[in-house]
Amino acid sequence: MKRLTVAVVVVLSLAVPFSAFAQRVGGGDLTFSPKNASPVIFSHEKHVSDKGLKCSGCHYQIFQMTQGSNKIDMSRITKGDFCGKCHNGQKAFDAKDEKNCVRCHR
Ligand code: HEC
Ligand code: HEC
Ligand code: HEC
Repeated sequence: MKRLTVAVVVVLSLAVPFSAFAQRVGGGDLTFSPKNASPVIFSHEKHVSDKGLKCSGCHYQIFQMTQGSNKIDMSRITKGDFCGKCHNGQKAFDAKDEKNCVRCHR
């Protein structure tokens, strides 16, 4: 019994940090919760692994590497800052287009 417990603890302590590391790309999934709009989920995995964007494409020119370090708001995005540097209808879908609100706000 005691030996089994030790074995389980050893296996868990080895497996958990590695699996957590393997699933997390960059800063992982970040949820923004604006007061008067539905939450926005930003996926590092979709931007980095699927679209091949480099960390340096966003950090530190557009975003710091701490969630909440930038005061992101919709009017700045619409003017082409933050997400709007790419989500302008050229590099990625346009944040100003009414059809696209729900692609970020879910
Ligand atoms: C498409 C843009 C983009 C790319 C590419 C990107 N990030 Fe991020 N990252 C963000 C945004 C947005 C935030 C949140 C910034 C804020 O809220 O002020 C963030 C935050 C982070 C955080 C902090 C997470 C937290 O919980 O506070 C880390 C760590 C991070 N990124 C690492 C990386 C690494 C490593 C890469 C490359 C593998 C990368 N990022 C690529 C946009 C990007
Ligand atoms: C590319 C992703 C994206 C798209 C597309 C987008 N938004 Fe946002 N929106 C955000 C982010 C990120 C925030 C800031 C979240 C926070 O407060 O931290 C935000 C915030 C907001 C807010 C909160 C108040 C403010 O000014 O920050 C409102 C309202 C809003 N968006 C409306 C809209 C509408 C309407 C559309 C469509 C025309 C839209 N958004 C499209 C990402 C997006
Ligand atoms: C460096 C450029 C860049 C920045 C900055 C950027 N994106 Fe994107 N994003 C892309 C590209 C490229 C795609 C894929 C093309 C498309 O779908 O139009 C994409 C796709 C997405 C998608 C669809 C894929 C998914 O995750 O479901 C969402 C949602 C999204 N971005 C949200 C955001 C939000 C929120 C921000 C700001 C916090 C942001 N993006 C900042 C380039 C960027």
